[in-house]
Amino acid sequence: MSQSSSSDSTFVKLFAMVIGVLVLFTFAIYFMANMVGTGDKPMDEFKRQVLIDRVAPAGAVRTGDTVEAVVVAAAPKTPAELYNMCSACHDSGAANAPLKGDAAGWEARSAAAGGIDGLIASAIAGKGGMPARGGTAFSDEEMAEVVKFLVGQ
Ligand code: HEC
Repeated sequence: MSQSSSSDSTFVKLFAMVIGVLVLFTFAIYFMANMVGTGDKPMDEFKRQVLIDRVAPAGAVRTGDTVEAVVVAAAPKTPAELYNMCSACHDSGAANAPLKGDAAGWEARSAAAGGIDGLIASAIAGKGGMPARGGTAFSDEEMAEVVKFLVGQ
């Protein structure tokens, strides 16, 4: 009897110790986690920035000049500059494109299309060997300007 009760109390002691160690361990983990994590406190700006820098993807796109580049790209182009996109065909006559400076030819085309507005509309829509807008992404306004430039008006 005394043998079994002593082994019982040994077990209880051991069990209590294990529980105690586990409880201590739980608190230890809890405090360590609190030290590492931010808890409920808002992260201070410097740490936040460092963290963002660390997790930023390698080879990020450089965006420093974007605003300037967009402004330059958005600056309106002169009709002569726009015409650079048309000159491959209309300076050479490639694919039988009517030539710039061929006043009589343009007059005939203008008459056939119903005036300059007709020519602009047909250049926007594309005609024969010419793709829509001459293969450019020009706006209707730019197309109007460059057609007038091409036709000589
Ligand atoms: C790939 C060559 C090519 C490019 C680039 C091109 N054109 Fe043309 N264009 C043609 C050809 C070919 C014709 C004749 C189409 C026909 O009458 O069948 C034509 C005809 C025209 C006409 C006369 C349309 C009509 O109704 O008779 C206009 C206006 C014109 N082009 C404007 C432009 C402008 C403006 C650009 C640049 C934004 C441009 N083209 C770019 C090939 C081109």
